[in-house]
Amino acid sequence: MKTALVTGASSGIGWEIAKELARKRFDLVLVARREDKLRELAKLLQPHVGITVLVADLSESGAPQHIFEALQDRQIDILVNNAGFATYGPFADADLEKNLELLNVNIVALTHLTRLFLPAMLQRKSGQILNVASVASFFPGPLMATYYASKAYVLSFSEALNEETRESGVSVTCLCPGATTSEFQTRAAMQSSKLADAHFMSAKAVAQRGVRAMLHGDALCVPGLSNRLLVALAPRLLPRGALAGLVRRWQEPAAEGEKGRKGEGE
Ligand SMILES: NC(=O)c1ccc[n+]([C@@H]2O[C@H](COP(=O)([O-])OP(=O)(O)OC[C@H]3O[C@@H](n4cnc5c(N)ncnc54)[C@H](OP(=O)(O)O)[C@@H]3O)[C@@H](O)[C@H]2O)c1
Repeated sequence: MKTALVTGASSGIGWEIAKELARKRFDLVLVARREDKLRELAKLLQPHVGITVLVADLSESGAPQHIFEALQDRQIDILVNNAGFATYGPFADADLEKNLELLNVNIVALTHLTRLFLPAMLQRKSGQILNVASVASFFPGPLMATYYASKAYVLSFSEALNEETRESGVSVTCLCPGATTSEFQTRAAMQSSKLADAHFMSAKAVAQRGVRAMLHGDALCVPGLSNRLLVALAPRLLPRGALAGLVRRWQEPAAEGEKGRKGEGE
């Protein structure tokens, strides 16, 4: 049996990616901070595949090395860098510690884990990496400035590595979801944003498309037709300055009476 490591498996997209990989009979290493949630998922999947739970806070600089060392005797065939979070509000008022933590989880840990696990994959001429970015990767993001910038890094990094590893037997796929039902919006305290009224995809649908693209070796996966149109057309049709203004209008708090989330869909 092959083994997949999934970070941020305790909820949302990561939880569903783990379920999808278990359905495809991969053994799993589940990583996040909330051990109770990881054990709940392990219990659900254990009858079918082998599960290892590793509790780690990826904002801590030593966490990727600890994960790597804990798995020294294991072959990791798939690395899913999914853990991530956002903060909401003007940057000048931002909680600096929280934003530095965001950069550590969304950028530094993802880069560190990739650097640790990629060489053995290249040596075996086999392996897949799935990095979870966002449609935000394609835009500057006023009111979520560090989050959008962190996801632009993930897209650029993943596309570069996919090119570097071309014809090596290893592929690097970047998954760029749009608004997706998970704990993400509540954690980011962005319920007042107009984006909270966007059309939401289910985490399961996003995970299925991401896993399919990764196993196919695709460089990029943007789930959902409207998301694909958005990232293909907006950056081409609008000047860069106008893009920032457009995103600002989406991110701003909705006026009273304007709210009411549109239904979840595929
Ligand atoms: N939902 C959306 O609309 C959306 C859209 C585009 C992209 N994304 C991206 O999708 C990915 C998954 O997010 P989600 O929507 O599934 O949100 P979620 O339900 O909040 O899940 C986030 C996951 O990341 C883990 N995580 C956060 N901070 C961590 C830390 N310091 N150390 C270890 N694990 C940490 C969380 O686990 P613990 O709290 O247990 O540690 C949780 O498992 C993120 O990278 C996010 O940026 C989400």
